Amino acid sequence: MDDWLDGLNGYLFNTVIDSIKQSLCIVDSKCKVKYWNNAAERFYNISKEEIIGKDVRLFFPDALLPKVITEQHPFEDVYNSPKKDYYIVISASPLYDSNNNLIGGISLERDITDYIKITEVLEKTTDNLALLKKEISSINHSKYSFSKIIGNNDKFKKIVELCKNISIASINILILGDSGTGKEVIARSIHNESNRKGSFIAVNCSAIPYSLFESELFGYEGGAFTGADKKGKIGKIEAANNGTLFLDEIGDMPLDMQPKFLRVLEDGIITKLGGHADIKLDIRIISATNKNLRDLVSEGKFREDLYYRLSSVAVALPSLRERKDDIELFVDYFLKNFCMQYGVNIPEIPEHIMNILVNYRWDGNIRELKNAIERIVIMLKSYKTYTVMPDFLPEYIYASYASAETKKSEDTGLLDLNTVISNAEKKTILLALKHSKGNISHATKILNIPRTSLYYKLKKYNIILQNIVIDNREDVRY
Ligand SMILES: Nc1ncnc2c1ncn2[C@@H]1O[C@H](COP(=O)(O)OP(=O)(O)O)[C@@H](O)[C@H]1O
Ligand SMILES: [Mg+2]
Repeated sequence: MDDWLDGLNGYLFNTVIDSIKQSLCIVDSKCKVKYWNNAAERFYNISKEEIIGKDVRLFFPDALLPKVITEQHPFEDVYNSPKKDYYIVISASPLYDSNNNLIGGISLERDITDYIKITEVLEKTTDNLALLKKEISSINHSKYSFSKIIGNNDKFKKIVELCKNISIASINILILGDSGTGKEVIARSIHNESNRKGSFIAVNCSAIPYSLFESELFGYEGGAFTGADKKGKIGKIEAANNGTLFLDEIGDMPLDMQPKFLRVLEDGIITKLGGHADIKLDIRIISATNKNLRDLVSEGKFREDLYYRLSSVAVALPSLRERKDDIELFVDYFLKNFCMQYGVNIPEIPEHIMNILVNYRWDGNIRELKNAIERIVIMLKSYKTYTVMPDFLPEYIYASYASAETKKSEDTGLLDLNTVISNAEKKTILLALKHSKGNISHATKILNIPRTSLYYKLKKYNIILQNIVIDNREDVRY
C-alpha cells in the first residue's frame, strides 16, 4: 500500500509541494515521513534528509498525524504552538488509495506567528486605549459636574437647577450668554449628568473653515474628493453617537449647511460625503451662542425651523456683571486653584483690591476674571511675596477703576450744582438753629424764610431737633 505513496514521487510533484508556502508533511500508514517540503524545512529547521523515512513521532511526540491515522478522521484548523513564540494552524486528513484503503496522512500548517504577535500588540493597545478612555472620562466627569459649578446668585442657581433636571431627558438645549459666562461648563455638566454612554463632542462652528464644514461634521467615504483621506473619515456628528454634540457659536453655522443639519435633528440620520448609505444615530444636541439668535432669524441669517428644533429648552446665562454677588466666591475659588497649581501660599485679597474686582465691568466674564486671578498668582510667585498689590491686577482693570473713581468724584462731588446748593442750604440751616439754640421761630427770622419752609427743609435734610427727627408726626405742621 505504501508503494502507492512512493509512486507519487517525481520532479513535478516535488516542485509543486515545494512551492507551497505552508509546511507540508505526508506520512505513510505507519507514521513514517514520506514528504517534507521546503517550507517545513525552514520553519522547523529540520532537513528532508534528516526526517524522511523516520517516524514523525521521533521529532514531534504530540504530532496530529498519528491521531489522524488511528482515528481516520480529518482535523481542520487546529491551533498549536509547536515551539516557544511560534504559532500555527494545522489541517490534517487521512489519505486513501483508489480502493479506499488507508495509505497514510497529510498535514498542512499555516504559520500564524505574525498574526498572533500583531493581535497581541493590538490587544494591548486596545486595553491601554480603554484604560485611557476611562481615565479621560473620569477626569472629565470629575472636572465638569453640577456639584463643581460655582455660584450662589439666585438667578444663576435657578438656571443650574433647571439644567440639572433636564439632563437626563434627551431634549435639545440652547444655551445663550456672553462669551466666558460658562456655557461650555454647563453643557459638559449636562452631558455628564445625563449618563449617556457616548462621548461629549464639541464643535466650534465659527472656527471651522467654510470649505471643510460639511466634511468635518458629516465625515466622508474614502476617495470622496481630492485630498480626502483614502480610508474616509468619521464626522463629528457620528462621533457623538449615543453621546452629546455641543455646537458652540451655533449662530455662525453656514446658512446652506442648516437644512442638512435640520435633517439630522428631525430624522436622526446622516449621510457621509460621497456615501450612499444612511447612518442612524442617537444624539443629544446642546448648542450655544453669544449672539441674539432671534435677530439672526429675522435677518434671514438663521433658519427659523432649525432655531425651534435646537431650542426645545433655552437658558440664558447671566453676565458676571449681573451676578456681582458671586465675584468674591469666584476670586476665592480661582485663587485657591491657581495657588495650588503654581505652588504659592494662598494670600488674603485686601479689601480695596476686592472692591476693584467686584466693581469692574468684566466684559469677558468668568474667563476674564479667571485670567486676572492667574496673573495675580504669577506675580505673587515672581515677586516672592504674600501681599497682593494693586499693580498685580492687569493694568487695564486698575486703570478703569482709577478713571471710574475720578469720574465718580467729579459726578457727585463739587461740580454738581444741585449737590453744592443742597449742601450749602443744609449747612446754613444748621448754623441758624445753632444760633437760635433750636428755637424754630428765631431760626426762621435768621434765615428769612417762612416757618412752613423751614419745617419742610428740616424734614428734607433729616435734621434732628432736640433729639427728635422731624418727620411725618402729627404735631409737625408745615
Ligand atoms: N460656574 C463656574 N465655575 C467654575 N468655573 C467656571 C464656571 N463657569 C465658567 N467657568 C470657567 O470660566 C471659563 C469660561 O467658561 P466657558 O464655559 O468656556 O464659557 P463660554 O463657553 O460661555 O465662553 C472656563 O475656564 C471655565 O472653566
Ligand atoms: Mg465657549
